[in-house]
Formats: sequence, C-alpha cells, structure tokens
Amino acid sequence: MPHIKTAPFDTARLDAVIREDAAFDFRAVPAVQKGETVREELLGVVWEGERFILEIHKRPEGYLIKPDKPTRPLDVNRIKRALRYLAEAAGLTIEHENITLSPTKTPLAEAYNKRIEDFESPDFGGRRIAVEVGFGSGRHLLHQAQAHPEVLHIGIEIHTPSAQQVLKQIERQGLTNVWVVTYDARLLLEMLPSNAATAIYVHFPVPWDKKPHRRVISRAFVTEAMRVVAPQGVLELRTDSDRYYAYALKVFSEGDRVQFDVRKNHEAAIRSKYEDRWQRQHKDIYTLRLFAEAESPALVQDYDFHFDRALKPLDALLALPQDAIIRPDHFVHFERRYRMVTEEGGVIKCSFGSFERPEHKVIAIREHQAEYYPGVPVRSRINHHAHQTIGEYAYA
Ligand SMILES: C[S@@+](CC[C@H](N)C(=O)[O-])C[C@H]1O[C@@H](n2cnc3c(N)ncnc32)[C@H](O)[C@@H]1O
Repeated sequence: MPHIKTAPFDTARLDAVIREDAAFDFRAVPAVQKGETVREELLGVVWEGERFILEIHKRPEGYLIKPDKPTRPLDVNRIKRALRYLAEAAGLTIEHENITLSPTKTPLAEAYNKRIEDFESPDFGGRRIAVEVGFGSGRHLLHQAQAHPEVLHIGIEIHTPSAQQVLKQIERQGLTNVWVVTYDARLLLEMLPSNAATAIYVHFPVPWDKKPHRRVISRAFVTEAMRVVAPQGVLELRTDSDRYYAYALKVFSEGDRVQFDVRKNHEAAIRSKYEDRWQRQHKDIYTLRLFAEAESPALVQDYDFHFDRALKPLDALLALPQDAIIRPDHFVHFERRYRMVTEEGGVIKCSFGSFERPEHKVIAIREHQAEYYPGVPVRSRINHHAHQTIGEYAYA
C-alpha cells in the first residue's frame, strides 16, 4: 500500500494545509476511553472527488502515513498523489516512501466486474438474468453464458482469485452477457429485483458440516431465491454431500406450497471441476430443483441512510459503548473515537451490519450533523437495520 515514512514532526503543522486546501477535510486525534490505547491520528481527504482517510501512526522512530483500510480508494495513484501533495505542502521530511506513480494497467474486463453498489438500482439492459452462486472455476457459468446469449449471467463468488480468473476468460472468449461480483451471495441476493431470474444455480457449495451457519442454503436464502426467480424459474442445488442433501431437502420442504424434484446422478450439460473429482470417486451426486409457482411482490429498497434526527452532544457520542451491540440479524461496534482539531467535531470508526460481511465506515460528526465517510453503506436490509440501531444510540 502507498505510504510515506517521515521524521517525527508536530502534526499541528498540517492544520494550516488542511484549513486552506479544499483537498483536505479534517485532522482528528484519539479521544480515548478508559482502557483504550489508540495512537494514530486521522486526516480526512477529498482528493480528485473521492473521500478517504489517511492515518498517521506516530512511532518514536518516525511517523507512518498511509490510507486506512475501509475507506481506501481503488486507484492507488490517487492515494500516492495525495500523499505527495501533503508531504510537500506541509514540508515533511520523507525518510522512506513508495509513492512513485504506477503505470496504469488496462482494467480487467472492467465492464463485467461489478461492485455491490452496482446492484442498488441495477440495469440489466432489459434482459432476464441467471445467477450462479460460488462459481469456482466458472466452467458452468461460462458454458451457460455461451449457450444462452440472450440471458445476462450473474456470477457471485467470495473468492477473489476465482473471480479474477473468470474475468480473464470472459475477455478471452469475448462474452458480453456475464457479470462477476466478488461478494457474499447471501447478501447480494437480497438486492436483486423480484421475478427477474430464470434460474439460480448453487453447485457443490461448501458443506460446512461443523459450522452450519456458514452454509449458503438456509430458509432465508430459499425465500429470497424464490422471490428473485420468475414463475416456473428454478433454484438448482447440486451436491455430493449426503448430509447437505438431507439438510437442503428439509429446508426446501419447509416452504409453503413448494414444488421441487430430486435427481440422483443426473448428468449435467457441463461438469465442474468438483463434479469431475466426485465422479472419479464414484460418489453419488444429488440435484434438487425448487420451482417458483407465483409472481412475487416487487422489491422495495428505499432505505435511507441519513441521520435525520437531533443527535446527542458530541461528548456523549464520543463515549458510546465500546462493546459490540449484538442483535439477531446484525451487530454494531463503535470501535474507535477521535476528536477533530481543525474544527469542532468528532469521528467514530465503526463496523456494523451482517456477521458475515460487515461494513467498515467512519461516522464524521460536525455542526450537530453526522454522515458516513467515505459514503453511505450498501443499501441492504441488514445494513439498514444496523443504521437504525446506530440511530438508537446516536439520537438524543
Ligand atoms: C466447493 S466450491 C464449488 C465451485 C463450483 N460451483 C464447482 O462446482 O466447481 C464452492 C465455491 O463457493 C464459493 N462460496 C462459498 N460461500 C459463498 C458465498 N456465501 N457467496 C459466494 N460464493 C461462495 C467458494 O469460494 C467456492 O468457490
């Protein structure tokens, strides 16, 4: 990650730059509670239209200035330019740096590499969609995309290297009807419109026999899947695990008025890597297909992430509980607090949302207003629940 190491200096020297230059927003110092040791200071930056945070780690041998993880922009050159500018404007003595601009690479199949935010109001170009959860090597996803060019195939995978490999294949094969998202499918599904999909494929999910809460298939997942598929559309699960099969059969049967079928050792149009392996071991493979019977109501996603009520006084906000607040479907953890020195205000670093895929944000408070930094969380139902919990603690 881009960073600079400088000789120790009085960080108040930065304040003149921050106050005068629109590219710098604030400096904040730790507002520690009992038992806490937070050493780093924060700089709010608005560089080339993007907001992020730089951390200043003060160590006796020198200071390290680097972007903080949660708000880090994707473009490393942007961070490098901001760091270079800051060092020059404040006259810092750089002892070590890695901020030489990198040559800009052509991004990998950029048009097909989607971010979770792209699903806040997605435009599928009038096409039906098919969704594949945990596509792994992508054999089935790419095969389906070739076989059904009129359908947009959305592959969701949490493992980044697999997603990168499949993006290379999309480019190589010149496919224009595949989107790849690196995210937890259980959360993304919530954001897809109703009645939009012809099929949702879950092939050879990790069985998680010892940690069943990590399984992709659950009652909640099946309910969302049945909302997303159009009538007569299908949720297709393939598994080689007897236990997962029994578990899924139970979950599928719990629904109201469900229609599903089960096939044993059914030959698929294309075999995945995993399937090849199980076939060589002569393992049984089960295919469960659950069909949607009726139209589902449209998805309403008008979640508002503004803080729209009067807040507690700043000192009370900077003393919010240190321990994580756990609710049945989400949590909120006010992790670290800082007081702005360049203006009257405070900063709270927090994590919240789903247990599997939490959001990491900064809440900046000034002039009795609070806002998420660098921007609002992903507009999911769980994040909205977490936002309401934050409100319970932050509102007067
Ligand atoms: C056993 S592999 C199967 C891969 C592929 N479907 C096949 O048949 O070869 C399971 C895949 O699901 C992915 N995965 C696990 N949990 C996931 C989740 N919650 N959301 C998206 N992908 C997930 C894993 O990273 C892994 O690539």
